[in-house]
Amino acid sequence: MEAIAQDERRDTRQESRQGAGQDRAQETLYLRIAQQLEGSIRAGTLARGERLASVRELARQQGVSMATVVQAYRTLEDARLIEARPRSGYFVAGRPGRRAAEPETTALAPQAQPVAVSSLSARVMGMAHEPGVVSFGAVCPSADLFPEERVRRAVSRAAQRHRASLCRYPTGHGAAEFRRAVARQALALGCQLDPERIVSTTGCQAAISLCLRAVTQPGDVVALESPTSFGFLELLESMHLRALEIPTHPRHGLSVDALSLALDTQPVKAVIAVPTLSNPLGSSMPLAERRRLAQLVAQRGVALIEDVLYNPLCEHDEQRRAVRSFDPTGHVMLCGSYSKTLAPGLRVGWTDAGRWSAEVRHLKAVHSGSYTELMELALADLLMQPGLESGFRHLRSTVAARVADARELVAESFPKGTRVTDPPGGFILWVELPAGSDAMALYEACLRERICIAPGSIFSTTGRYGHCIRLGLGGRWDEAQRRALRRVGELAQALMREGEPAG
Ligand SMILES: Cc1ncc(COP(=O)(O)O)c(C=O)c1O
Repeated sequence: MEAIAQDERRDTRQESRQGAGQDRAQETLYLRIAQQLEGSIRAGTLARGERLASVRELARQQGVSMATVVQAYRTLEDARLIEARPRSGYFVAGRPGRRAAEPETTALAPQAQPVAVSSLSARVMGMAHEPGVVSFGAVCPSADLFPEERVRRAVSRAAQRHRASLCRYPTGHGAAEFRRAVARQALALGCQLDPERIVSTTGCQAAISLCLRAVTQPGDVVALESPTSFGFLELLESMHLRALEIPTHPRHGLSVDALSLALDTQPVKAVIAVPTLSNPLGSSMPLAERRRLAQLVAQRGVALIEDVLYNPLCEHDEQRRAVRSFDPTGHVMLCGSYSKTLAPGLRVGWTDAGRWSAEVRHLKAVHSGSYTELMELALADLLMQPGLESGFRHLRSTVAARVADARELVAESFPKGTRVTDPPGGFILWVELPAGSDAMALYEACLRERICIAPGSIFSTTGRYGHCIRLGLGGRWDEAQRRALRRVGELAQALMREGEPAG
């Protein structure tokens, strides 16, 4: 309902600006009908592929004009919730094809492990960016998902307006305009941040790195979701930290109960979590669990490094709220960037490190000197422009349609018994092949056909995900990608057949 409700607010604003001659009652009517239908689709009352009432039928049922119904259907089409099929009418988007089951909660790692994933992850990522490779390996969204022209204009405007910034050393811990813009955006996370405490960084990864450095020493234990982003594991490896993987539910995220037990028995110094759209599971913690997590780390005096990079991509309003919003104690170190949602090329991220702000400021000064003023000013400009939220909404619906498509392809082409996540947003799928499958062998077979996938083993230190793969669906999405994904499934089937005992 939320997408269209926001449209209504936007449209209403536009209407009051444009004023003249619009029939307001008519407009509200079509939005009401669109919202009702959206609710039925999201609740599953109207299933994928199901035919909707004809324009005439619905107009009669609702006692409105056919033009109003057409407008309602167009609104739902724009939100990619329904599709018009020539000479057949309107249908709920997505085919009613096979659906694969979702994976189950992952298991607790018995103890903290040293990390050694970087050589394999570097190899995988190297291939993910090779020209001519169809890549599901990385989670880099392609340029067509972003307002490229607006970003370009913001950069040139910043260069025009702030000429002096090009030839001087910036001082401080980030451009004031950028820190203010981040604080304003953080209201959408439910957080009131003091711009003075925000430190800018070179992306979210650098923010997490600074926070980790501020709260750990080599040899310390860091708890994370399982599976987790290999970028986090690489950071731990480079800092000689040990990883303790905590059971994670593919929908509800990190288990707070399991974390609590782990904190009882292990000397955990910090927790890294992505409570909204974790990578690679795509899980999003319910609000009550976010509150419990904030309370737990505060009670135990442990730092929680919360990564909010993907929050704007979550389809559920309430799950965009940060754990930090429940923490008055400063134990949550908030880290973010706009690399997946607005402008990856600007390479600007940020952190508000709570009670460790002074340490993080110092570390930032030591490790990267200052900041790239021009890019921060450009990003601040983009963040303060109207239309940012509607851009996120558009991004959400675009990637939702392709992720739904990819899930169906997995259900159709991968071996029987394959499970796949169903995340409430983002562009990552985690695929669990039947037990005994060898995701590394699949990775090699795919590479021979110039397709790149990410094998599950780089997302953990436990060796538990040797039969899993991650699919990054942020790149182009067209028939070539669909064909390639089907081919991954066929190769997985062929490898399974090879592994079966003869006769
Ligand atoms: C969970 C998570 N955090 C951080 C990053 C890195 O973000 P940035 O590109 O802003 O450094 C990624 C990149 O894939 C990620 O998945």
